[in-house]
Amino acid sequence: MTACPFRAKVLSIRQLTRAIREMTLEMLEPSELSFQPGQSIAVTVPDQSSSSSLLRYYSLASPPHSSNQLVLLLNSHDRGQGSTFLLENEIGADLQISGPHGSFMLQQDQERELLFVGTGTGIAPLWSMIATLLAVPSSQPITLLWGLRSESDRYYLQELETWKTHHENFSYVLTLSQPSSAWKGNTGRVTDLLQAFSTVDHLAAYVCGNRTMVKEVTDLLHEKGDCAVFRERYHENS
Ligand SMILES: Cc1cc2nc3c(=O)[nH]c(=O)nc-3n(C[C@H](O)[C@H](O)[C@H](O)COP(=O)(O)OP(=O)(O)OC[C@H]3O[C@@H](n4cnc5c(N)ncnc54)[C@H](O)[C@@H]3O)c2cc1C
Ligand SMILES: NC(=O)c1ccc[n+]([C@@H]2O[C@H](COP(=O)([O-])OP(=O)(O)OC[C@H]3O[C@@H](n4cnc5c(N)ncnc54)[C@H](OP(=O)(O)O)[C@@H]3O)[C@@H](O)[C@H]2O)c1
Repeated sequence: MTACPFRAKVLSIRQLTRAIREMTLEMLEPSELSFQPGQSIAVTVPDQSSSSSLLRYYSLASPPHSSNQLVLLLNSHDRGQGSTFLLENEIGADLQISGPHGSFMLQQDQERELLFVGTGTGIAPLWSMIATLLAVPSSQPITLLWGLRSESDRYYLQELETWKTHHENFSYVLTLSQPSSAWKGNTGRVTDLLQAFSTVDHLAAYVCGNRTMVKEVTDLLHEKGDCAVFRERYHENS
């Protein structure tokens, strides 16, 4: 699929946590973007130090069936030129965007159970993939493991519970690496959750987020057995 330039406007903004902002873009030209769940768009960012521009990539968290509206998850902690520019844009602002980019996509494999492993905003492409899968009735088991730091970093909790209630084949485990002493849920990193898997030969895993996590999870799954692991191509040499 070739990437093409297009225009979009900021349709809505939701502050999900202190650091995470959900930004919904409405496609203007063309009026829809055709993409695969897991792919990203590039946002053109004016370069403060020259008259040229920079590109910053953001995974699409929304599923392709709502292709007129694109949901991004932005981490305001980054505070580089891309995040600063995007976070300053208000509702109605016009953005120049290209896409779709990337080959991190769902593979056709009805035989394996699906395991999604993410940290932080690495949930974005996984969210699009899971929403796409759950839109079609299926009994293929889908498990999401999501690592966040503390209670105040959690979001999309209601959406996760709705998915779990309505889809018998979907389950999720949230783990916090630095919770408060009052936290009663899982504590530790997503890598710790993988210890519970005695065999992985029946799994296809999709991994996204912190770079070191992606490498550690990939290595761990391969050590445990014949797990198919999918991740962004830029991780392939690590
Ligand atoms: C395929 C892909 C998908 C992605 N999807 C997402 C996504 O869904 N959500 C998301 O939030 N990000 C995503 N990213 C990351 C995103 O593209 C940017 O790299 C991120 O927003 C940081 O860009 P930036 O321009 O703000 O920071 P950069 O300028 O690239 O700087 C990188 C880091 O350097 C430090 N830094 C830079 N300038 C300063 C400064 N002036 N002061 C202090 N520290 C500084 C910051 O720690 C910053 O995080 C994705 C990246 C890729 C490749
Ligand atoms: N398509 C893509 O490639 C894509 C899409 C979206 C986002 N991203 C990237 O995803 C990253 C999200 O940030 P983040 O995950 O670092 O978020 P974060 O909010 O900084 O951290 C989230 C959790 O990751 C844990 N973590 C850190 N290192 C780990 C490791 N080696 N193994 C297991 N868990 C680990 C942290 O644990 P501690 O508290 O112990 O540190 C924390 O609980 C960003 O770098 C963003 O650019 C990529």
